Amino acid sequence: MEKVSRVATPLVIGNWKMNGMLAASGKLTRELVALLAEHATCEVVVCPPFTALLSVAGVLSAAKIRLGAQNGYPAEKGAFTGEVSMPMLRDLGCDYVLVGHSERRQHLGEDDGFIARKVRAAVESGLTPVLCVGESRAVRAAGESERHVLRQIELGLELLPSEASFVVAYEPVWAIGTSLAASAQDASAVLAAVKAWLCKERGIREQAFRLLYGGSVTPENIAEFTAQSEIDGALVGGASLSAETFAAVVVGAARGYLCTSK
Ligand code: PGA
Repeated sequence: MEKVSRVATPLVIGNWKMNGMLAASGKLTRELVALLAEHATCEVVVCPPFTALLSVAGVLSAAKIRLGAQNGYPAEKGAFTGEVSMPMLRDLGCDYVLVGHSERRQHLGEDDGFIARKVRAAVESGLTPVLCVGESRAVRAAGESERHVLRQIELGLELLPSEASFVVAYEPVWAIGTSLAASAQDASAVLAAVKAWLCKERGIREQAFRLLYGGSVTPENIAEFTAQSEIDGALVGGASLSAETFAAVVVGAARGYLCTSK
């Protein structure tokens, strides 16, 4: 039985982080395009580093895989040395931009106010923001995961223009790059609370957003996540750096999505 309330296809986003010289990024993209040429049951996005966006965009131009950026600055232009604006990302062919990844919150001191401005700037530039949220190990141990994540979302979406489309990626910090993925049931419970909050508290239409899980996603565990009715896809780090592995994640995501968890 198909889950009729869900959007038609799952969304799988590869976050390459700070990996890939030009030649390697081009090779990875070409391999992915070849492996996923026949695959139409997933929306696939890759987020290369800034330096590879233009060349990857060229390889993707005739393919169905879409382009995303890992970050963007919340001003259109001006004296912000070293930054890249959302309109510049759009100009390069990006459709998506990650916002508020925990690595940026942790290592670059990004706070919720700054993240909220990025979400708004992304939408205003025609990009779909992927707001990343997730609790630390300590917060989880204190039983505060849900409260923490809802608060991050409340603050992160504070400036969201009405009627905007967006994505929320729930990525527990303790699950990122550790091989310790959350259980599909736990991730689904958090995302169910997120969905309820977005629809009931914020009055946002269910069709306006998609909810992803991220954190040590692999070809082996992806189907368990997408089989959950609250999980629309995944944000994938390490497993997106090999074309074969990422293609296997994409195929697994589609397989899980078609199963019912009930
Ligand atoms: P991981 O990273 O899949 O390597 O755990 C996920 C992310 O940071 O987006």
